[in-house]
Amino acid sequence: MPSPAPIYLDNHATTRVDPRVVAAMLPYFTEQYGNAGSVGHAFGEAAREAVEQSRASIAAAIGAEPEEIVFTSGATESNNLAIRGIAERGKRRGDHLVSVRTEHKAVLDPLARLARHGYVVTLLDVEQHANPRAGWLDPQRVADALREDTALVSVMLANNEIGVIQPLDEIAVICRQRGVTLHCDATQAVGKIPVDVRELGVDLLSFTAHKMYGPKGIGALFVRRSRPAVRLEAQITGGGQQDGLRSGTLNVAGIVGFATALQCCVGELPTEMKRLTELRNQLWERLHNRIAGVELCGPGLDERAAGVSPLRLPGNLDVAFGDVDGEALLLAMRDLAVSSGAACSSTDPSPSHVLLALGLSEDLARSTLRFGLGRFNTAAEVEIAAETVAAAVERLRGLR
Ligand SMILES: Cc1ncc(COP(=O)(O)O)c(C=O)c1O
Repeated sequence: MPSPAPIYLDNHATTRVDPRVVAAMLPYFTEQYGNAGSVGHAFGEAAREAVEQSRASIAAAIGAEPEEIVFTSGATESNNLAIRGIAERGKRRGDHLVSVRTEHKAVLDPLARLARHGYVVTLLDVEQHANPRAGWLDPQRVADALREDTALVSVMLANNEIGVIQPLDEIAVICRQRGVTLHCDATQAVGKIPVDVRELGVDLLSFTAHKMYGPKGIGALFVRRSRPAVRLEAQITGGGQQDGLRSGTLNVAGIVGFATALQCCVGELPTEMKRLTELRNQLWERLHNRIAGVELCGPGLDERAAGVSPLRLPGNLDVAFGDVDGEALLLAMRDLAVSSGAACSSTDPSPSHVLLALGLSEDLARSTLRFGLGRFNTAAEVEIAAETVAAAVERLRGLR
């Protein structure tokens, strides 16, 4: 009997490109391959038109204006442009920067680099493990951290490990009152939950196509252009594309794919949120019933923010297995693609800084698995995945 295909439950790492996205991109490799910067011929015009239509569609999907969207190579670059761009421009206001311990490395690393150059960085704590709101940032902590010389606050919308959704709208009110620019890394949120930059009140917002069934290597930064207009120092200079904010030949096929991917997500958002919540809860229930001593990491699955919106991404589950090493578990389940809390990146073997910030011990953090459910997962896959994990945990426990 052929072995069943591997099951992919690592949709926070990246997602399969939707066939509709591939179809929309193809002509921009083969027929419409012009440079969007070329003037005076039809190839350049067609490319430019495709880029501008895509820009308008992406802007509309997040409540922005087309001229507020800057294309980048992905969320890492968007975060760098936002953070370093503000820090370098905002020097006159001061050199104090505020963020959170549980941010992605694509925020923490640029901040650490600025700290080495004399900026002062404050990293805020979040609610601790076993609290129903574990991982959540109390907006009061932001209010307490702001100073006269604070140039930027950077808070992610949805966490890539524990799925917690932060109260950006409340944080924005605080920043606005104090005249501080607010950046949001919304990489895991856009396309998964409703995101509207005006409702959130943010000044800068990073996102990327490959987390929403689009291609890798294309992302965007929303840069507020009015009330107030945000000024950034460009980080990549050259041909002066995109008003000089981000030089470089535009990735036309990627941009078209990005816009198509986001359109598909927005169209299916309410049904997909409900479906993924049910699948995620099914997975937790099976793991919880089958395996003794499992612990949920991050906020409770039924927790709500402001009474209605979920406090956790619909497709996210992060589970600690206590006495079993997450890396060993991964190796014992070659047909299941999930991610371990032991290595937050393949080049860094230390336990996840997010889980440590929640107060988990190193051993407990190393015993976790992160599940990311997505568009192409089914209830049947969830059943097989839960059985596979349960069998692997039993086997590993039996070996000790
Ligand atoms: C929260 C968050 N921010 C930033 C990134 C980096 O995104 P990209 O791969 O597009 O550079 C990721 C990707 O893992 C992420 O999850």
